[in-house]
Amino acid sequence: MGLIISPSILNSNFVNLQREIEMLNTSEADWIHLDIMDGVFVPNISFGQPVVAAIHAISKKPLDVHLMIVDPDRYIDEFAAAGASNITVHFEACNHLFRTIQYIKQKGLKAGVAINPHTPVQELEEVLSEIDLILNMTVNPGFGGQSFIESSYEKIIRLKELIIKKNSKALIEVDGGIDLKNAKLLKNAGVDIIVSGSAIFKSQSPSDTIKKFKRIE
Ligand code: DX5
Ligand code: ZN
Repeated sequence: MGLIISPSILNSNFVNLQREIEMLNTSEADWIHLDIMDGVFVPNISFGQPVVAAIHAISKKPLDVHLMIVDPDRYIDEFAAAGASNITVHFEACNHLFRTIQYIKQKGLKAGVAINPHTPVQELEEVLSEIDLILNMTVNPGFGGQSFIESSYEKIIRLKELIIKKNSKALIEVDGGIDLKNAKLLKNAGVDIIVSGSAIFKSQSPSDTIKKFKRIE
């Protein structure tokens, strides 16, 4: 099966955001990845619900919303109303992760759990059968354009083993520093979904780059 490609617009041209979304609409991108940052959970601030709703109004692709915010429970209703298809919360930001996951699923959305580079995959053991995707951060969350953490391959292999052991259907998503080269290695390690920002939006032809990601075998 081919990779699911979820381009992150964090480093796209916000002045011409409509044009960027229209480009993604006609590209082979599967989802659109939206990074929500609160300046507390991560050192950066990005954008919030009104921008997600504006994108939803013109997007033909499902919105893959990555919440890098503390206490995400407070905002699930609002991001669902803004048009998210997937809501991913951080393991490190949730006191009652099980409840949060159940709530996202009750809303009819796909529920994801993200883990920071320092969080061991074993932490997910008790929720694996409940979630639709695991987002493994392959950089420290907060900024686009950082270097991929090389030890991530081994972590993905351990995560895949755990998914099989728990008989879970959860997909593995990776996010941060991903280009056409490491995407191939990540696919071999068991990754299902690739998030990529700079490698797509800083390339000469973002839609061609997306096509190349889709052709990775
Ligand atoms: C980082 C974000 C990523 C980021 C990816 O905290 O979660 O989605 O935008 O961008 P690149 O591909 O440039 O690392
Ligand atoms: Zn992200």
